[in-house]
Order: sequence, then C-alpha cells, then structure tokens
Amino acid sequence: MSDLAIPDLPDVSTHNFADAEAQAVTLAKHIAERLRTGLEARGHALLAVSGGNTPKLLFAHLAQAALDWAHVRITLVDERWVPAHDPRANARLVQSTLLQHAASAASFVPLYTGAATPEAGLAEATARINALPLPFDAVVLGMGDDGHTASFFPGGDHLDLALNLYNRAPVVAMRAPAAGEPRITLTLATLLETRALYLLISGAHKREVLADAQLGLGAAQHYPVRAVLTQKRVSVAVYWCP
Ligand code: 6PG
Repeated sequence: MSDLAIPDLPDVSTHNFADAEAQAVTLAKHIAERLRTGLEARGHALLAVSGGNTPKLLFAHLAQAALDWAHVRITLVDERWVPAHDPRANARLVQSTLLQHAASAASFVPLYTGAATPEAGLAEATARINALPLPFDAVVLGMGDDGHTASFFPGGDHLDLALNLYNRAPVVAMRAPAAGEPRITLTLATLLETRALYLLISGAHKREVLADAQLGLGAAQHYPVRAVLTQKRVSVAVYWCP
C-alpha cells in the first residue's frame, strides 16, 4: 500500500495497492471482518456487491473466508435485466465466484424476478430489499469509465430518482444508452444504509475519472459517482490498483 496523488475529501479515504491480488486480498479481509463483526453482534450479516469484471478476484478470496456464512445474506447493488443463467447476469457472476467454497452456505437475494421488464419486476424486487434487515454490514461499489456506479448511468432515465436521498423506494429501474440492457439498481439512499462502503477500482484511467469526479470540474460534475463521493452519510473507502 502506498500514498497517493488523489487529494482526499473529508469522507473519502484512498487505499492504493501494487496489484490486483494485493487489493483483493486486503479488501476481502476487511469485508470478512465487517461480516464477522455483524455476526457476533447481531447473529446475521448483510452484504451488497457490484457486478462487472473488477470484483472477480475479490470474490474468489472472500469466498474462502472462515465465517458463519449460513447467517450471511448477499445481494447485488444492481442487476442487468437478464435471467440468472445469462453470461451478463451479475447473479451468475456472484453464484460462480462468491457463493463457492465456505461462502456456498450464504444465501443470495437476487434482484431479477423473471418479469418481462425491470419496471414490471419492481414491486417484487422492492419487497425483497425491504425484507432485508438493513443496514448492510458492507457495500461494494465499482465504477465505469463514464463515471457510473451501480446502475447510476449518465443520462439514465431514472437517475434523479435513484440519486435522490429522499426517495424511499429501495430500488429503481434504469435504462441508459451505455447500460446495454435495462437494469435495476439499489438507490443511493439504500446503498448508504451501510456500516461500510467500499469503492473498488483499477487502472490509471479510472483513477483519473475518480479524481475528476472528486473535483467535479466541467463534465465531471455530472459523473454519477460524484453523488457517492460528496455525500456525508457514510465514509467511502476507495481501493485502487494499477
Ligand atoms: C455492473 C455494475 C457496474 C460496475 C461498473 C464497473 O453490474 O456492471 O455494478 O456499476 O461496477 O460498470 O465495471 P467493471 O468492473 O467491469 O469495470
């Protein structure tokens, strides 16, 4: 771990690693500690994770943590509106990488419901999230090159609703030019109902996007991830590697 060039805002800390392995090992350890603390204090623990490519190594390490996984529930920060067997489904990623080894005893709460559209599946997905004993013990976000996080995409049709901290709905449907298929996403307010919030990113370009989003100059003031970086409810721990 080394110090960096990105200036920290008061509630954003950055943790830099030499490579993806070191990043994944350390974050897996920190998340496992959070889950263990939750298990000891409350008898259960709750984790929300992103899809995409970056978390795969993290999931591989976290799956091997010695925890009472039978009392851990895992859900997604967002999902592409595709069946669980689809190669693009975050549920499939979590099933094949995180719900393995010791963690195969954990239970998984999917966002996809089988309805034809995320709008049609919204009531069921809402009920699933409302049934969880929030706050989360940990939430793991990723970030795209365009400054999106979860399914908070630039130009998303329900972006304002997703980012509005007074919105009481736990999930919203999202369609955006860069999103590919329609999606469903936990709202910002729901993601912030957590005891720990991690932003897992890699690569020089994403580090620049993050720094731009923190400063919020020019086009970067509209990067959706900026809403996560500038809120004051929860500290954000950024885990970065080249
Ligand atoms: C998803 C996400 C999304 C992701 C970023 C980064 O389901 O795709 O939750 O917000 O975290 O797009 O994805 P990569 O890790 O693949 O760059």
